[in-house]
Amino acid sequence: MADAPESKGKLSMADDQKPPQVATLSYGDKQIELPIHSPTAGPDVIDIRKLYAQGDVFTYDPGFTSTAACDSTITFIDGNEGVLLHRGYPIEQLASKSHFLEVCYLLLYGELPNAAQLEDFEHRVTQHTMLHEQMMNFFRGFRRDAHPMAVMVGVVGAMSAFYHDSTDISDPWQREVASIRLIAKMPTIAAWAYKYSVGQPFVYPRNDLDYASNFLRMCFSVPAEDYVVNPILSRAMDRIFTLHADHEQNASTSTVRLASSSGANPFACIAAGIACLWGPAHGGANQACLEMLREIGTPDKIPEYIARAKDKDDPFRLMGFGHRVYKNHDPRATVMKQSADEVLELLGIEDNPTLQTAKELERIALEDDYFRDKKLFPNVDFYSGIILDAMGFPQAMFTPIFAVARTVGWISQWKEQISDPQLKIGRPRQLYLGETERDYVNVENR
Ligand code: CMC
Repeated sequence: MADAPESKGKLSMADDQKPPQVATLSYGDKQIELPIHSPTAGPDVIDIRKLYAQGDVFTYDPGFTSTAACDSTITFIDGNEGVLLHRGYPIEQLASKSHFLEVCYLLLYGELPNAAQLEDFEHRVTQHTMLHEQMMNFFRGFRRDAHPMAVMVGVVGAMSAFYHDSTDISDPWQREVASIRLIAKMPTIAAWAYKYSVGQPFVYPRNDLDYASNFLRMCFSVPAEDYVVNPILSRAMDRIFTLHADHEQNASTSTVRLASSSGANPFACIAAGIACLWGPAHGGANQACLEMLREIGTPDKIPEYIARAKDKDDPFRLMGFGHRVYKNHDPRATVMKQSADEVLELLGIEDNPTLQTAKELERIALEDDYFRDKKLFPNVDFYSGIILDAMGFPQAMFTPIFAVARTVGWISQWKEQISDPQLKIGRPRQLYLGETERDYVNVENR
């Protein structure tokens, strides 16, 4: 692939005492002034929106490594310092002092709720946990061995066929109902995808249980024996939801935003987000990480896998390691590691060989120059799979659980985007390297 068109010119910022307000791009005989926006936190942003109109050039940034695709007030990450804030609140405080539904309220509405607002919000979510009964037939159309993520993409997309009264995005009431429905129904959808895959009857939600306990019960209860939810496991589940609730403009969130920029209905947009989350470089990493830890098996095999991860000719990567934004510890991973210790101790399996392998792998990798130089640290997915496995979830359910948690982030970002009166359809341009125009040749002459 050709280099970015940097060679044609240079982008320079005014070196002033005050924060620079304008950047000047010069190339050929052209010089273009571009405004600079200062965020409340994070690096300044050069506004290139008028660049094509003024200069007849595009910028080139596949993978969006240097591009802010939107402005947002929801989540802030400082990847160098290992900071993650939701509406300004550090994730460590939210994980230890708050709980998932309160964080949902914070992400959706911008402030922590007072007691009455929280009660009302919890009530509204609880009232929407059931699925339209006809959706059961929809589940039954899938093969039993379908991956639960395939089922979730299909069922969430199909919600637009079941809930017509909340697909008009120009109506604030419908937007609100769609948001609550998605947050409320996602645990039921994920639990039913699981139940269907193991051939057990679907378990209806129970509104006297909190969000995490209700999800655990819908997954593990059977008609012959009701599942009694252990509060420590429920707390750990809630924390996993909280830690995954939002993460700024990651791949699946950007997918949701791009889908919504065309005016697509919220259920279609969230289905697009689920599809993107599925990949092993994103939400699928938690499943891939546990598979990798199991494959490594025992600590003595770690050096072999570390060598493979460092080998340029081997596509193997340490799953659960590295992050596009964090070039320091992922703050979510620190909380997740503590949670793994707590859950495994509670279950009396603290000497779990997978946990031991994970800890040893982390220790060895963090002492290795390759990982240190490239600033590769364990990410949120490194320990989450161990907790979910200990709770009794099969690996195929790890990413659906991530999807349940991330739904509020997707919805909050979707709401923010469609509330913008300046919203334009997302339409990137390209660096075209294909053939120039040529004449069609009949098949007998080729
Ligand atoms: N193991 C070994 N080498 C790695 C790894 C890894 N896990 N991650 C990155 N590298 C190397 C990579 O080979 C490259 O080396 P070089 O510069 O010599 O070519 C360098 O580090 C930079 O990697 P990159 O792929 O250019 O970085 P990225 O920002 O595009 O990718 C990532 C970020 C998360 C996709 C990548 O680190 C990765 O594939 N990690 C494993 C998958 C994973 O755990 N994903 C979950 C991310 S957190 C949850 C979520 O957001 O969904």
